[in-house]
Amino acid sequence: MGRAKKVVLAYSGGVDTSVCIPYLKHEWGVEEVITLAADLGQGDELELVREKALKSGASESLVADVKDSFVQDYAFRAIQANTLYENRYPLGTALARPLIAKILVETAQKYGADAIAHGCTGKGNDQVRFDVSCAALNPHLMILAPAREWGMSREKTIAYGEQFGIPAPVKKSSPYSIDKNLLGRSIEAGVLEDPAAEPPEEIYEMTKAIANTPDEPEYIEIGFHQGIPTTLNGIDKKPVELIEQLNQLAGNHGIGRIDMIENRLVGIKSREIYESPAMLVLIQAHRDLESLTLTADVTHYKRGIEETYSQIVYNGLWYSPLKVALDAFIQKTQERVSGIVRLKFFKGNANVVGRWSNNSLYSTDLATYGAEDQFDHKAAEGFIYVWGLPTRIWSQQTRG
Ligand code: ARG
Repeated sequence: MGRAKKVVLAYSGGVDTSVCIPYLKHEWGVEEVITLAADLGQGDELELVREKALKSGASESLVADVKDSFVQDYAFRAIQANTLYENRYPLGTALARPLIAKILVETAQKYGADAIAHGCTGKGNDQVRFDVSCAALNPHLMILAPAREWGMSREKTIAYGEQFGIPAPVKKSSPYSIDKNLLGRSIEAGVLEDPAAEPPEEIYEMTKAIANTPDEPEYIEIGFHQGIPTTLNGIDKKPVELIEQLNQLAGNHGIGRIDMIENRLVGIKSREIYESPAMLVLIQAHRDLESLTLTADVTHYKRGIEETYSQIVYNGLWYSPLKVALDAFIQKTQERVSGIVRLKFFKGNANVVGRWSNNSLYSTDLATYGAEDQFDHKAAEGFIYVWGLPTRIWSQQTRG
C-alpha cells in the first residue's frame, strides 16, 4: 500500500479522533488531514467541534447534517425489517456507520483524497462497519485506523495530544464510553464492565426512572404508510421530528432501556446498555401492523429474513449484495403495511392496544365465536385428516 498524502478523517471532537490528526501527519507522513463530523442528532455543539479540528491541525474541517438521510434511508429501512440484533438491540450505533462511511467516501472523492481514516480501536464492531462500508463504496481508497495501531493508553494518548495543543478533557472524563445519535444512546465501560453490576441511574439521559414517570397512562397512535411511520397522534410528521418526539414521549414513561450482554463480531462478549425509546416502540408497532396486513406465510418467512438482516447491519455488511437483495424482498412485503397502531405507555411499558388498516386481512366473520360465524366447521374435519395423515401413518408403522 502506498503512503497516503491527503486523508479524510471521521471526526467527533473527542480526544482520540483529535489525536489522530497530528498522529497521521507526524507519524505516518500524511500531508493534509480533512476532518468530517456527521450531525446525526447527537446534540453536540458542532461548530465547536469544527473549530477544534482546525486547532488540532486539520487543513479543512467539515460538518455534514445528515439527520434526514439517517432516518429515512437507514432507520426506516431497519423498522421495515424489524431489526433487533440478538432479539433486543435496535442497532442505533450500527445504522449510523454506513452513512458516515458514505459521506467519508463522497468527501474523499470530492477533495481528491487518497485515503479515509477513523479513530476506532481494534476491539469493536465499528472498525468493521467503517472499513467494509468504505471498501464497498470505493475499493480504491486506503483506509487508515491509527488508534488500531498506536497502542497508546488513554493517558499516553492525552499526553501525545497535548504536545500538539490538543487540550486534555476539561471535566474529569466520564468512566463510560457513550455513542449517541437520534436513534438512541449506547453506553459501556466503567462499572458496567461487571455484568453483575446494576447500571447506575446516572448513565441514562433519554429515559426516566420508573419512580419518576407519570402515574397516568398515555395513549399514542402511530400511522404507517407502506411500513414507514408518517403520523403521530393523527398529525403528519417529518421523519426526524417523528423520531425526536417519540423519543420524548416514550422516554418520559421510562420506555426504551436495554441491558444486555452481546456478541461482537470480533468474538468478544460485551455488556452494553442502550436507550432507544422511539426505535423500540416503532418496531413493536410496525410488527403489530404487519401481523394484521401480511399473510401468515409471509409473516413467518419474513422473521427469518429479519434475523439475517439484523446480523447484516450489526456485522457491517450494509452495502453488501445480500443486503440489497433482501431489501427487494422487504420492500415488496411493505406495500400493504399501512394503517394505525394505538399504544399505551405506562411505567416502562409500551403495549399495543389497538390497530386499524384498510388492508386488514382480519375477518370478524371468520374469527367470531358469535352467531355471525361464517367459518365452515365441517370443512375442518377433512382438512385435519389430510394434515395429520403423514403422522397417522408414521404412528401406525412404528407403534404397530
Ligand atoms: N455495541 C454497539 C454496537 O456495536 C454499540 C457500540 C458503541 N458503543 C459505545 N458505548 N461506544 O453497535
